[in-house]
Amino acid sequence: MPGISRRNLLRSGVALSASSVLARSAWGRATALLAGYPDAASAEALAAVAPREQLLFDFGWKFQFGHSSDPARDLGFGFGQGDFAKTGEFGFSKAKFDDSKWRTLNLPHDWAVELPFVHDEVQNSHGFKPIGRRYPETSVGWYRREFEIPASDAGRRISVEFDGAFRDVLVFVNGCFIGRNDNGYAPFRFDVTDFLSYGAKNYIVARVDASFGDGWFYEGAGIYRHVWLTKTDALHLGKLESTVRTEVSGDSATLTLGTVVVNDGKQTENAKVSWQILDAAGKTVGTADAPAQSIAVDGAAAFMATAKLVNPALWSPDAPNLYSAIVTVESGGKTRDAERVSFGVRTVLFDADKGFFLNGKSIKLQGTCNHHDHAGVGAALPDRLQWFRLGVLREMGCNSVRTSHNQPTPEWVEGCDRMGLMMMCETRQMSSSPEGMAQLEAMIKRYRNAPSIILWSVGNEEWQLQNDMAEEGARIAATMVRRCHELDPTRVVSAAVNGNNEKGVSDAFDVIGFNYSLQLPDDYHKKNPKRPLYGSETSSAISTRGVYTTDPLRNTVNAYDSVVRWGETAEEWWKFYGTREWEAGGFAWTGFDYRGEPTPYGWPSINSQFGIVDMCGFPKDTFFYYKAWWRTEPSLHLFPHWNFAGKEGEIIPVWVYSNLDEVELFVNGQSQGSQKVPHLGHVEWKIKYEPGFIEARGSKGGKVVLTEKRETTGPEVAIRLTADRTEIDADGEDIAILKVEALDKEGRPVPTANNLIGFKVTGAGALIGVGNGDPNCQESDKEPKRSLFNGLAQVILQSTKRPGEIHIEAVKEGWDGPELTGAKLVITTKKAAPRQAVV
Ligand code: GAL
Repeated sequence: MPGISRRNLLRSGVALSASSVLARSAWGRATALLAGYPDAASAEALAAVAPREQLLFDFGWKFQFGHSSDPARDLGFGFGQGDFAKTGEFGFSKAKFDDSKWRTLNLPHDWAVELPFVHDEVQNSHGFKPIGRRYPETSVGWYRREFEIPASDAGRRISVEFDGAFRDVLVFVNGCFIGRNDNGYAPFRFDVTDFLSYGAKNYIVARVDASFGDGWFYEGAGIYRHVWLTKTDALHLGKLESTVRTEVSGDSATLTLGTVVVNDGKQTENAKVSWQILDAAGKTVGTADAPAQSIAVDGAAAFMATAKLVNPALWSPDAPNLYSAIVTVESGGKTRDAERVSFGVRTVLFDADKGFFLNGKSIKLQGTCNHHDHAGVGAALPDRLQWFRLGVLREMGCNSVRTSHNQPTPEWVEGCDRMGLMMMCETRQMSSSPEGMAQLEAMIKRYRNAPSIILWSVGNEEWQLQNDMAEEGARIAATMVRRCHELDPTRVVSAAVNGNNEKGVSDAFDVIGFNYSLQLPDDYHKKNPKRPLYGSETSSAISTRGVYTTDPLRNTVNAYDSVVRWGETAEEWWKFYGTREWEAGGFAWTGFDYRGEPTPYGWPSINSQFGIVDMCGFPKDTFFYYKAWWRTEPSLHLFPHWNFAGKEGEIIPVWVYSNLDEVELFVNGQSQGSQKVPHLGHVEWKIKYEPGFIEARGSKGGKVVLTEKRETTGPEVAIRLTADRTEIDADGEDIAILKVEALDKEGRPVPTANNLIGFKVTGAGALIGVGNGDPNCQESDKEPKRSLFNGLAQVILQSTKRPGEIHIEAVKEGWDGPELTGAKLVITTKKAAPRQAVV
């Protein structure tokens, strides 16, 4: 549970004042919104009543590769015919099995990111990792864990819950086959009550097979999200059945509260449900009860009630106010189960004439699409890293994200709720097949209380269903939309469509999304004036961070807002969507660079160059275009750097992104003239390069408000390490994200430095990944060394559960390049009660 200081922070209200967050802007400050996560006050209230335990099941797993075609190298699994013939015969999930030679690791875990790159063109989507049916040795992983179940658990219901794994999972407990999962993103769970030994050791095994893929981008491999062991009373709340629907009218909101109670016990129960509504400070602001109902053995009953909130604190990106509902089941005079549902109060409207409205106010969706991997860790992100990424996006003024092309992890959604980002939440498979519907249902049931979600998406660019199979497509989409509405009548449904939206799937959608093709929406709007529109996917602009010349031999793209054939520059798409009143806004492809789809080049590129920030979250120059036009405070960004040794006398384009009235450029103190900044545009000069400095002075109302300088630096002589936070929790999960730079003798970062740096980490933590944002870098993500790329690299350190200090030392590695003075940094890991976990 979070400590007292965090609780006080929440209570003081400081942490939830988003206006202060926007004003202070730094990522570190933005995460103040996350203080007390999960909401400390309501967690306390829950702990006071709940007989349920939700234990993190992440630590201390054993792991070993299997084999997807040779049973001899796959624990003998599938050797003969009869593996599934009898229950209880899978020896690898019994006590006697020897896993002492297996590797020990913690979840979340992605083994794909640990593998070397392979030059195999078919593998470009996976970022050239050897995953798939042609790589049997590295496509199956076995996870095994011993765990104790006390005798006192007899009579409770016990489930193993996976937040998601990649991809096909078979789960075994104590020799018995329990169940399977066949997709990479939906959560899955199994009630294992009958299979456990009480007052004894138990064994769980998961065989994870990443041979098949779901997408065309890097998806990782393994149990890359959290696992939980949940224990409840036999009379318990149905999984993901508790809903809080809010309706605002005047100064108050009506809450419609619903849930389902399941009786897995041995006698009929007379159960009653009550709700306690808490504000963010933990104050009870409402209560409700539903009358008792008799529930037969193996039966279930739905309960409903309403409550009123007077003057609710509305949820918005500027003030992401949250509430909690503690849902409690009682029977026989005892509390039998309880859970906490986080929700927010806000209204959402997509209007065909006037665009998008949140709480009655017009606001454009300043969105980005994002995949889910990060430098160093692949698809297995510690929670903090999810929030770091959201902080980076928020910093540039992004107010909404699209979880392309799959349902997100719960921490991403909670992060959006808490940090104030709106979300278009997308399922992976556009299909009304049982599998497609199950994925969709899992997503909607799981996230339908999240205030950040403003729009469900049932898919992306389904060529067949939009064209040759348009009739089938129309039926499939209609079935999916109906089910969305049934499970969540409060939200509209859409999909990302690359085409004219005139046939196939589109008829079914409440809101019409266009991917690219800026020539289409105007015409569609004229023909369909009653249908709200937005840009479901836009831009696909490309650039390599810190690079100012496009060089196909080096697989680099210059920073001057370049674009792929089918895309639009940042300026083009935002001038389009940002200026049409009837457009709700849109989602740029992409916020972050991602592994796989190494556009616009192939090998040796291993990741895309679409990101507005790179794989580490270091901003590319376009970041500042968005910052200028998506945020309101004065902003000015000058590029390129001014280190072009050898290019003396050559013409270099100098650009400024700013939202000020005018910018004057100086080269070595000489004015190059002033230019008015065009609305939603930029200003540029062509300058003959000579070493020294360039300076931009931006003015508003005739007064210089902001200036920025780029100086020619000397060669690098020293390393600098800085951390996003120098004090983290000693909970075995928290991380510090370090920036590595090279400085010249005057202490200026050298923007062209590419030195190889080694890292020595000792003490109460470990290095879990490194990166540098170079789309063409094939160095290991896991070894304690990394080359700087255009002056920058990133190191991710994770705490252990032992409070203390993590010492990191960065030194020059190898013989090449200039001598560099090393750098040291200490991260303090402070005592923090870890989340309740399986020991
Ligand atoms: C889109 C697609 C994305 C990505 C993008 C690259 O068509 O939806 O997943 O591939 O193109 O520009």
